[in-house]
Amino acid sequence: MLKYEGMIFDLDGVLTDTARFHYMAWKRLCDEMGMRFDQTLNERLKGIGRMDSLNIILSENKSDLTDEEKLILTERKNRYYQEMISRITPDDLMPGAFELIQKLKELGVKKAVASASRNAATVLKRLGIIDRFDYIVDASAIKNGKPDPEIFLNASQNLWIPPERCIGVEDSEAGIEAIKRAGMYAIGIGAPAVLCKADLVLKDLTDTDRIISLLLR
Ligand code: BG6
Ligand code: MG
Repeated sequence: MLKYEGMIFDLDGVLTDTARFHYMAWKRLCDEMGMRFDQTLNERLKGIGRMDSLNIILSENKSDLTDEEKLILTERKNRYYQEMISRITPDDLMPGAFELIQKLKELGVKKAVASASRNAATVLKRLGIIDRFDYIVDASAIKNGKPDPEIFLNASQNLWIPPERCIGVEDSEAGIEAIKRAGMYAIGIGAPAVLCKADLVLKDLTDTDRIISLLLR
């Protein structure tokens, strides 16, 4: 008997380490623009959409630009990011991710991806796992970004599973808040100090037995 029937994964930093590519692409752009950007600021951008991320960087640098200039910069950052993800292979899956997806399938647990990234489908294809999910949220159709629960609620609706029967998995503070506001069980991947609102924090997905035991009554 399953306690949770659906598992909704963030992508960047959960299924693969693309969080580091987002960091490197923003860092390159900021260095070129003479703007300050470091790991602490980057932590606040995890889970946050492209334009909102630029707005946070600009505000931290006490800088302002026109909408047109902002668009040019976000497109430039995206080109740097796309260069990096073009080299992704199935070897770039996070440790434990493939095994967990397999076990969920055997148990009949539905799986979705709820990523704010408009590059999510490309990354999932390159990882070779796009067909293993029952539903992938289209980030461009989501009006309110994380920490708003909309993206996780959209995923559970499309899996046809009520939120309280779903587990969300996230590496960002904003994402954990979104999962909790959606009324789901939250697994954080990363540092317990950052993900303190999660119900459980793990360093990666390798402890599949622990995750599976949560799903069972
Ligand atoms: C999230 C990342 O998954 O996607 C953020 O954590 C990123 O860092 C966001 O800004 C949007 O990604 P993209 O690929 O649409 O720029
Ligand atoms: Mg993430």
